[in-house]
Amino acid sequence: MKIIETIAQMRQEITIARKAGQTVGFVPTMGYLHEGHLSLIEAAKEKHDVVVVSIFVNPLQFGPNEDLERYPRDFERDERLAKHIGTDILFYPTVQEMYPETMPMTIHVTKGVEVLCGESRPGHFDGVATVVMKLFQIVQPDEAFFGQKDAQQIAVIMNMVSAFNLPLQIVACPTVREEDGLAKSSRNVYLSDQERQEAPLLYETLQFGAELIKSGEKKRDRVLDQMKARLDNGTGRLDYLTILSYPSLNETQTLHGAIIIAVAYFYQNARLIDNYILEA
Ligand code: PAJ
Repeated sequence: MKIIETIAQMRQEITIARKAGQTVGFVPTMGYLHEGHLSLIEAAKEKHDVVVVSIFVNPLQFGPNEDLERYPRDFERDERLAKHIGTDILFYPTVQEMYPETMPMTIHVTKGVEVLCGESRPGHFDGVATVVMKLFQIVQPDEAFFGQKDAQQIAVIMNMVSAFNLPLQIVACPTVREEDGLAKSSRNVYLSDQERQEAPLLYETLQFGAELIKSGEKKRDRVLDQMKARLDNGTGRLDYLTILSYPSLNETQTLHGAIIIAVAYFYQNARLIDNYILEA
């Protein structure tokens, strides 16, 4: 596995791969790798000759009161895991390399961000879109792999690819979970023991809501009320719990067609998100 820290070197490697007729699969991450990330790398390996993984904690996507400074980092461990799973190139740029000056322009996302994490984290998806656009230009992949756990992020990236006619495909991969159902996340390490024990409540509540809908409940508010009653047993604080059409993310009182049930929940030191997509 090659570790590359500069954009110029990354470009060189890609040029060599392309000249040799190889396809490139790309997995962007912020590191502190877990099995969710590794499942994306495996999916990329199955389809591509060269797999590039990036590790970059992107300052642009963190709000002023968010966890940029204490976002978990462990490059040596990431390096080991990435190598073991069969990554070909690990792209690990510094902030200085990615942003040598204040960005003279950024991407402003205008659709699909007035709800969910877009609503509770203003500017977050502008930062995500901007760094992913840069990474796509640097790595020039045939396909990029993203996790369904961040369903709104996938919708934003797919819209960006279509809006700017970017020459690549986006592949959405299923959410990888702990045995008790908690979605794997780099931020799970922030949970206290008690919170970690309780946290499967989020996915249980999503499953409970999905069952209500599958068994015929079509009234959005009735599903949400019953789900909220369950979450009231938690020791954290609800950020949002909602049901929207998917992928269009509109609110309708009567549920039908493809929908997403999504939750964001604050524990003491971590904000966790999860979702469940189903056909109503
Ligand atoms: P990060 O949170 O590190 O996630 C990197 C990728 O892993 C994302 O596509 C995310 O959806 C996926 N992922 C996270 N947890 C997962 C799980 N439990 N199962 C499956 N996939 C999972 O998302 C980001 O970084 C950043 O916003 C980024 C796209 C890298 C831009 O900075």
